[in-house]
Amino acid sequence: MKVGVFDSGLGGLTVISAIQKVFKGADIFYIADTAYAPYGEKTTQQILERCDNITNYLLQKHDIEALVVACNTATSAAIEHLRRKFPFLIVIGTEPGIKPALMISKTSKIGVLATPSTLKGSKYQELVNELSSIKKVKLYEQACIGLVEQIEKGEIDSEKTFKMLEKWLTPMKMNSVDTIVLGCTHYPLVHNVIKKIMGENTNLIQTGDAIANRLISLSLEIEHKNKGDLSISICHTGEINKNMIERILDNKKIIIRKCDI
Ligand code: DGL
Repeated sequence: MKVGVFDSGLGGLTVISAIQKVFKGADIFYIADTAYAPYGEKTTQQILERCDNITNYLLQKHDIEALVVACNTATSAAIEHLRRKFPFLIVIGTEPGIKPALMISKTSKIGVLATPSTLKGSKYQELVNELSSIKKVKLYEQACIGLVEQIEKGEIDSEKTFKMLEKWLTPMKMNSVDTIVLGCTHYPLVHNVIKKIMGENTNLIQTGDAIANRLISLSLEIEHKNKGDLSISICHTGEINKNMIERILDNKKIIIRKCDI
């Protein structure tokens, strides 16, 4: 089976890392669209065009059967468009894990970290409205402007990244938030910093495992056997931090190359 996965950069590799643990017998083609990152500060139209070009590229070049949009921002802007335009393709998106957060929170106070574009999007609002009937919770939403750039530079443990997160998280901590939704696939990469600020017992919700399981169940429906090797190749449209790739995926056999899309 051939599967395309994309994100604006390194973030989607947190999803690949989850896929790698359970998905077998497939070739994964990952696009890190770093020439156009960050998506979270672009217009819906700009993001939609990138999603369209990348999907066309993956279809023409690799003949993919499934597409994982490993990016909350791109999912919010373009998932409906992609499903309409490519109905023959399995299309899996990424959404902030508000529902699992709701289930797990004891204080009913939940922090949501995401890009400005995700938080502004109607998809996010619809999700919140849909879930608000399940349980009454207070959401503390924070658009993390600049955090994706810090992560792309590999500044995971830097003073600047710590200070940014500390500014956003301290009000949440003061208000007894016990669960944080990582509403951008880049943010699991600063998991340790968030725990350091919020405390070890804070629940951090990411959706990589759920996406990997969804990929398995939809591919079994098209007779995928889920056995054998998994190959991963990464194609980046702009610069990419290769040390970060090694840190996230820990696999020396991955092919990394630059491409124009
Ligand atoms: N990884 C992204 C997300 O899940 C995109 C971040 C960005 O490029 O702003 O939203």
